[in-house]
Amino acid sequence: MDLKAALESFGHEQVTVCRDSSAGYVGIIAVHSTVLGPAVGGTRVWSYGSFDDAMTDALRLSRGMTYKNALAGLPFGGGKAVLLGPAPASPGGQAAFFRAHGRFVERMGGMFITAEDVGTSPRDLEFVEEETRFVAGLARGMGDPSPFTALGVRRAMEAVAVEAWGSEDLAGRTVAIQGLGNVGGNLAAELHELGARLVVCDTNPERVAGAVTLYGAEPVSVDAILDVEADVFAPCALGGVLDDDAVDRLRVAAVCGGANNQLLRPEHGERLRERGIRYVPDYVANAGGVISGSVDIAGWDLERMNDALDHIFFTVREVFALASNLGVGTHTAADRMAEARLAAVQSRLGGGAEA
Ligand code: NAI
Repeated sequence: MDLKAALESFGHEQVTVCRDSSAGYVGIIAVHSTVLGPAVGGTRVWSYGSFDDAMTDALRLSRGMTYKNALAGLPFGGGKAVLLGPAPASPGGQAAFFRAHGRFVERMGGMFITAEDVGTSPRDLEFVEEETRFVAGLARGMGDPSPFTALGVRRAMEAVAVEAWGSEDLAGRTVAIQGLGNVGGNLAAELHELGARLVVCDTNPERVAGAVTLYGAEPVSVDAILDVEADVFAPCALGGVLDDDAVDRLRVAAVCGGANNQLLRPEHGERLRERGIRYVPDYVANAGGVISGSVDIAGWDLERMNDALDHIFFTVREVFALASNLGVGTHTAADRMAEARLAAVQSRLGGGAEA
């Protein structure tokens, strides 16, 4: 990888590669932007095929956090930590690995604040916290962000319902949920409460059985979820799910879910638009989790946090309006809105770091 070219093209401020050989730890802490505030983003542990793959993921994910935080109206920049996994399995090794990470986060002096992400657990974060103040989402604070993420997805879905059917009422609408984990499970509960009909799948049969019992959901196989005739498809499992095959197969009016990086490539956003399927950009819909972090990190009270969660509805409406005005896909419109917010703040600050 030509790292200098990559940093220029992604627009990063700082990328730090960290190593503690005694802890078997190698991590990348990517700070994309601090224009709006300290860079906030999760710590991911993953077994990458190569160091370049890990670097690419760190660059991509940290830039995504800048855009997500900007559009959510948060006083946070964007960052991400990517640790080369697997983490040691023994309790002692695991503690040493995550404490090493904590020391590197601490050394950044608050420029980067981290939380749980794919491959990390609340216990791992407690080890990180033994070494640094700059951690959020711990049990003694706001805790698990997933219920807030699900609430935000619900507000985004209500906004896309206005676009599609002129009313935010989801009663009687059919929603096909892919993945019933922390986010999908909470979303299913929310939607059931609102009177929506649910069609669900998960690779874990117990989760499917739970949704059938609790919400009267209709179960389908993991493969069949893309063919379900529904009002909304809600991806709440994997990234990259909106690929050539999925975009052709979907029989829904809208896509709105919690999963990160739903579009395999930007062109799939265009293809959805061509097919008349309204796509709520993932990072707008799933910002509820990081919004809940505003309480621990920025000292917001619950009322302000709830207002920001509720505002996801209006942001989605704005994204659709801009997309229609510009004649572009909603994924492009959302990026432009985030870039405009960053540029406005940057010009007030009189330049500064690149966004
Ligand atoms: P999770 O791991 O709790 O849930 C994922 C669920 O998807 C599991 O139940 C799993 O069995 C299921 N699954 C895996 N492969 C599947 C497949 N092929 N088809 C159907 N189901 C499948 O994860 P969580 O926390 O619910 O996150 C879900 C997505 O939302 C991820 O993409 C995550 O990055 C994103 N996200 C989560 C946030 C949060 O607050 N937890 C915040 C923002 C984004």
